[in-house]
Parts: sequence; structure tokens; C-alpha cells
Amino acid sequence: MSDAGLLARRPGRSLPQAAYTDPQVFAADLEHVWAAGWLFAGHSCELAGTGDYLALDVGRDRVLVVRGDDGALHAHHDVCAHRGSRLTTADHGHVRAFVCPYHQWVYRLDGRLRSARLMGEDFPVSSYRLAPVAVREIEGLVFVCLAQDPPDVDAFAAALTPQLAPHRLADTRIAARLDYRVAANWKTLVENNRECYHCRGSHPEFTLSNFDLGVNGDVRSDPRYEAALSRARARWERRGLPSEEVSFPGRSWYRIQRLPLRDGFVTESLDGRPVAPLLGELTDADAGSLRVVGLPNLWAHANCDYAVTTRLSPVEAGVTDVEVCFLVRADAHDDDIDIDALTAVWRSTSEQDWELCENNYAGIASRGYRPGPLSPVVEASVEAFLSWYVTTIERGRTAL
Ligand code: FES
Ligand SMILES: [Fe+2]
Repeated sequence: MSDAGLLARRPGRSLPQAAYTDPQVFAADLEHVWAAGWLFAGHSCELAGTGDYLALDVGRDRVLVVRGDDGALHAHHDVCAHRGSRLTTADHGHVRAFVCPYHQWVYRLDGRLRSARLMGEDFPVSSYRLAPVAVREIEGLVFVCLAQDPPDVDAFAAALTPQLAPHRLADTRIAARLDYRVAANWKTLVENNRECYHCRGSHPEFTLSNFDLGVNGDVRSDPRYEAALSRARARWERRGLPSEEVSFPGRSWYRIQRLPLRDGFVTESLDGRPVAPLLGELTDADAGSLRVVGLPNLWAHANCDYAVTTRLSPVEAGVTDVEVCFLVRADAHDDDIDIDALTAVWRSTSEQDWELCENNYAGIASRGYRPGPLSPVVEASVEAFLSWYVTTIERGRTAL
């Protein structure tokens, strides 16, 4: 689609069809959105030991994040410096060194080439390495950036750290991991996440514990909700749990906010009771639900007892891979965790959302689609996301 196609977007409406379905727009998304900003890659707890690694696929790119001998995280393109083979096929694993499966070049965890067989006596081993990728660990979450000159991430880190620190995600373990392939454009999934217009009709488990308002971009006022929020914030602040709302400051890419749950619920469970021991430094189950959004590929909820993260990975215009992880404190015994109870709300909610997104995308891709009007009452955050997206693409194109 031409620039004019995207620029022709009418504010207050969903995007033109091609923005979701056209492979050229998808290529522009990868270039100007996905390769330009910070992406959520995974969790520190998956990378606890030297040689533990995880992979994040971003279109045709694949990033490896590994814990080095020095204890620091390193990120590399998964591309051999010989003739370009992938080094890994597994999405998580443990290695002493990365050995290319093609001709067995061996790389240290920090990416430097250690040995290259049959390359001749004078081969300058030290001149080769895996191409580095920027990586940053923030309160147990790991972010990478494919840009040569990554944008600032310190403001995000400064906003996230005090709010997420009490949950101590660095001291958790992944109790359950769910992988999905969703037949929809990545923006369809983000749009779905950015509104709760659909919650009442589609998420019976989620709406047990969650108010369906109070989300960013919902301008409805409800005295019962407002009162619950201000009472909860006063209690949290007294106990040292910060609750300042940080919603896409300066039209940036992140949001952090602690939200109250409905009466009788201390976590996002079916019966309102905790499904795991309290996380980190929390001494009281009354901690609400801390929401973290990072555009374009992260949303997470940190509750008193578990955290759930959702990571998007774009495959092609109409296909998005999703990884949903459930984290509990590292020293929680298996006997204390009922996996069905732990995953009940977010397994159902996620799967309901993927069905909605696939259904939405099928209509978007059809001959009958026209961009439709967004609700000024409950979809302002969808509008904000689409405006961020168009601005990001335009900025990237201008910079070329
Ligand atoms: S492509 Fe990796 S060793 Fe040849
Ligand atoms: Fe949803």
C-alpha cells in the first residue's frame, strides 16, 4: 500500500483493509515498528543459568537471548557468520556454546566465534561473531531492540521498576506456557487488547474478577468503580505499593497501571481466592492487578499470586504467534499450585480473544470490509494505538 493509503486513514476509524492484509504493509510494519522499538522477548527466570537461552521470532528475523558466563544477558541474531544458517530450532534451551548445525562453527555465549574448522591456518577467528542485538532486563522482563541505534528505554524502566518491583518477577518460575498460532494480523490482536468493549459479551471468566471499565481509553464514569479505585489506591499507597497511572506518556509505547479487582476477588481466579503463594515482597493479597502494556508485543498482568504475560510474534500479514506464560514464585511447590486453577481465567480469556480476532480478521480480509467507526466512549485506546502505529510508520519512512 502507498503512503497515501495509510495517510488516508480517517481518525476515529479502523484502518484500511490493506493495512491489515497487504504483505507490503506487513514488511513496512516489520521495518518501521518491529525493528525500530523495544520488544518483549521473555523473562529473566527463563534465563537463570549460564547458557540458558530463549528465542523471539519477528517475521523473518530470529533473536537469541542468552545468559553469558559473565552473568549478563546477550542477544544475537540467530544467523551464522559463515553462510547464514540458523543456529537453533528450539525456542528455549541450554547450551555451553552455540554450534552451527551446518559446518559446526562454534560461538561463545557472548557471540564471539570460538572456532571454525577447516577454514585454513590464517583464518581470523576473532574477526567474526554473531550480529549483536540490544537487550535490557527490567524487573524480571527481558526486552530486545533490533535497531542499530535503539531508542531510549530508561524512561520506561524508571516507570515500570517501582510498580512491578514488589511482585519480584525475577524470582519466579514459569508454571505454565501456552503457545498459539492466530490467523489474524498482529494489529488486530493489539486492537482487541486495547478495549474492553467486547469483555461483557465474550469473557465470562475475566469479568468475574475484573470491572469491564477503568481500562485506558474508556471514558465512562461509574461512581461505584471510581469509589473502589480511590479506596484501593489509598490502601495500596499506605502499604508502599505505588499506583500512579502511566498511560502512553507523550504518546509513547507503554502503559503501567494498578487496577482494583471486584469485591471478593484478590486475584484473577474463578473463585476470587489466590491460586499460588504471594509473589515477592507482597505481604497482603490486596494488591489489585498491575497492568503492563508495551507496544507492539506485550501485555501482562501482575496479580498478588501470579503474573501472566502475553507475547506477540508476527509471522506474516495474516498470522501471529502468541506465547502466554504464567509465573509463580520460584520456591512455590508443585503441590501448592493447581495448574488448572492458575490458568483458568487467562487460558479461557486468551482463547476467546483469539477466536474474536480470527473472526474479525476474516471479515477485514473480505470484499465487504470498510473501515468502521470507533466508539469515543470505550475505544479511545484503540484510536490511540492506531494513531501511534501510523505515526511510527510515517516517522520510519521519513527517516529513510
Ligand atoms: S553456515 Fe554455519 S557453519 Fe556454515
Ligand atoms: Fe478480550
